[in-house]
Amino acid sequence: MKTEFLYLNEKEMIDAGVLDYGRCIDVEEEVFRLLSVGDYVMGGDKHNSHGIMMKFPKESPFPNMPTDAPDRRFMAMPAYVGGRFNVAGQKWYGSNIINPERGLPRSILMVMLNDADTCEPIALMSGNLISSVRTGCVPGVGVRYLANKNAAVCSCIGAGPVSMACFEGIIHEAKNLKELVVCDLISEKAQAFAEEMSKKYGVKASITTSLEEAVRAGDIVSVAASSVKPIKLENEWLKKGSLLIFSGRGNVDEEYFTTSKVIWDNTKMHEVYYDEHMLLPENERFINGIAVQIYRFMYEGKLPPITEGVSLGDVICQNRRGRESEDERICFIASGMPVWDVAWGYELYENALKKGLGQKLLLWDDPYLA
Ligand SMILES: NC(=O)c1ccc[n+]([C@@H]2O[C@H](COP(=O)([O-])OP(=O)(O)OC[C@H]3O[C@@H](n4cnc5c(N)ncnc54)[C@H](O)[C@@H]3O)[C@@H](O)[C@H]2O)c1
Repeated sequence: MKTEFLYLNEKEMIDAGVLDYGRCIDVEEEVFRLLSVGDYVMGGDKHNSHGIMMKFPKESPFPNMPTDAPDRRFMAMPAYVGGRFNVAGQKWYGSNIINPERGLPRSILMVMLNDADTCEPIALMSGNLISSVRTGCVPGVGVRYLANKNAAVCSCIGAGPVSMACFEGIIHEAKNLKELVVCDLISEKAQAFAEEMSKKYGVKASITTSLEEAVRAGDIVSVAASSVKPIKLENEWLKKGSLLIFSGRGNVDEEYFTTSKVIWDNTKMHEVYYDEHMLLPENERFINGIAVQIYRFMYEGKLPPITEGVSLGDVICQNRRGRESEDERICFIASGMPVWDVAWGYELYENALKKGLGQKLLLWDDPYLA
């Protein structure tokens, strides 16, 4: 039996609508509802693994073998998404922090979709825009449900593509946003980000290299910087009523977490992360990862365990409480999951079929080994 699949390059992904933030936010909200009822599967024994990372050793006797460096990894992220999607797939990417010096994105991503029953490939697509847009739209869903309606200032920490995507998702939902503050170690990058977003959305935009200044200004603070050390915020910098979103690594002190509400993208995934984290040697714990500071407070008994945490999907389905007052400060942890890539990829695959985009590739006319 003949098997073909659709190949979509980056330009074809754009033509299929990958940059449609509004639609992606709606699709990711649908996925949050599937997460809440449990109609999804991810990797590992507990079906909730973020993915499997391949990191290189610190030193190698083999001249061609890469060695470890910040943000240097390959990662395989499989998922099945139920509901109307009913599709399996995987995001596969490599990341090298020096890539921009070569004119390449830091990470280069592909998304594969497979028929969940026959397992045949149905699409192979350029994944960079799927990944950045879905990463931006998850904070968009967070803002829809967790931000104060009168949030006027958004501060973005990091001026890379992921941070910009997060701002695009945020401004789509923060209907009263008037101002953007961009903080990056590289002022030129912050300036380019501020100018582009100001032109696109008509917001007042400024830049700073002071983390404190940026965080103090924000009603919504979005952290998405690929920093060697986690970004360290202080409790008193965060405004009353603010929404703090971690899409990249960052820390805040204990007082913040004991006086604010934490909402997770998916507590079930963080249960797995937490367990994996605790297998690390003691001197390597609580250093790397988006939520490790919270894990530390949980480990020290200063915060309730992750099993009692609140997931955004449960807030959306009205099984758990989200924002309860205008003054409350909320921290939304958006660590990323392959379910977002697979669902958004599937929507774009359907669009591509309707629009006749992409190239059909033959796997076989008849499988040699059937
Ligand atoms: N949560 C998710 O789903 C998800 C998905 C993809 C990427 N990410 C994360 O998002 C982050 C950003 O990704 P990217 O591709 O835009 O990275 P990038 O390397 O292209 O850009 C990151 C920017 O952060 C800036 N930066 C570094 N340290 C800083 C600091 N201390 N203060 C201010 N700015 C600082 C850098 O100068 C750079 O401009 C990465 O850490 C990545 O792991 C998260």
